[in-house]
Amino acid sequence: MENVDLLLYNAGQLCVVPGGGAAQRGADLGRLGLIENGAVAVRDGRIVAVGPSDELRAEYSAGMLLDAAGRCVIPGFVDPHTHLPWMGDRADEFELRLGGASYMEIMAAGGGIMSTVRATRQASVDELVAANLPRLQRMLAHGTTSAEMKTGYGLDTESEIKQLDAMHALQQQQPVELTYTFLPAHAVPAEYTGNTDGYVDRIVGEMLPAGAEWMRAHDTVLFCDVFCEEGVFDLAQTRRILEAAQRLGYRLKVHADEFAGLGGTALAVEMGAVSADHLVHTPEADIQALGRGATIAVALPGTPFGLAHHDYTPAKAILEAGGALALATDLNPGTTWCESMPMMMALACRYMGLTQAQALAAATLNAAFAIGRGEQVGSLEIGKQADILILDVSDYRHLGYRYGTNPVQAVIKKGELVVGP
Ligand code: NIG
Ligand code: FE
Repeated sequence: MENVDLLLYNAGQLCVVPGGGAAQRGADLGRLGLIENGAVAVRDGRIVAVGPSDELRAEYSAGMLLDAAGRCVIPGFVDPHTHLPWMGDRADEFELRLGGASYMEIMAAGGGIMSTVRATRQASVDELVAANLPRLQRMLAHGTTSAEMKTGYGLDTESEIKQLDAMHALQQQQPVELTYTFLPAHAVPAEYTGNTDGYVDRIVGEMLPAGAEWMRAHDTVLFCDVFCEEGVFDLAQTRRILEAAQRLGYRLKVHADEFAGLGGTALAVEMGAVSADHLVHTPEADIQALGRGATIAVALPGTPFGLAHHDYTPAKAILEAGGALALATDLNPGTTWCESMPMMMALACRYMGLTQAQALAAATLNAAFAIGRGEQVGSLEIGKQADILILDVSDYRHLGYRYGTNPVQAVIKKGELVVGP
């Protein structure tokens, strides 16, 4: 018998979510590769076999045997869009919004993102780590095993780099694997009010080069993202920033069509961005572009829900065009503070019309491709990292159907049990 480190067996349903090296696009979304009474064998943190329990139990002896007792086993969730790390909260602004003020009005009046910027600029790296560690722990408890994080609450060179340093420190202290995005183009800071082009000059001339230096010093690749939106960065400014970033070796992401469709999604596809995110008011031509390109469409249903808006990402149109759709939380203190990917699945099923199987593939395999890690995580395919969840239900269709309580019983990260059972 061959020996492995971990054999997880007796999974009532084991959802592989196979990609074969690619995201699930269009009508293919929702292919779960479901194995009844399944098992998965892990060695050195990687999946070496997946199949029926009786076969794997006959084939492998294991240092650790884990009985899933008929429960559902799925890949760890990947959250490809969060705004961690930040300081403070905006409960006061939520109260204003309940009184009728809009998100963009509050932002134009100097609140919104700028209020979190003021709090984040004042914080030290240690304070940022202390404030954001519990958020990552909640994400992990809800099954997120890999996540993206963004700067964008510094908006000056020193504070943006400080956010990167905080991300790096957070990575050393907990098991959720982090992907870093540089987002100095998240808002126009107060110092540049009325002079957005001046701030874009600063981003291109000083901030992006500083981030590129950080990326070399830390032997990693950063994403660069831009909030392409009416009243923030227009399409020409977005292009200028992304082109400069691409020249410096960043991979690209775009915040597009959250409130207005400016063409940011088509630009993302044209430039080969890894993802285009939000995509609520996406023009038809841009939806068609997603069908032709490799860029992953990341829907963030927590955001319209958090803003009590009624328009969500047009998932069906994106899938009909042949696009690849992923889900993320957008976790941030302004529009949506929610650490739970299962909650995003519940919203996507109701407001984007996804089936539970589609939502599951969008929250795992496709989400991994949305941060450029689809070869390593996001599914229970042989060779991938053993990032695995045991749910407290036996049927995956409870995901999306139930909400507000945590369906995750145990979390395995790189073959190690890090939560429960
Ligand atoms: O994705 N759109 C811009 N950024 C965030 C909101 C950030 C904030 O309000 O602090 C978003 O919704
Ligand atoms: Fe966002």
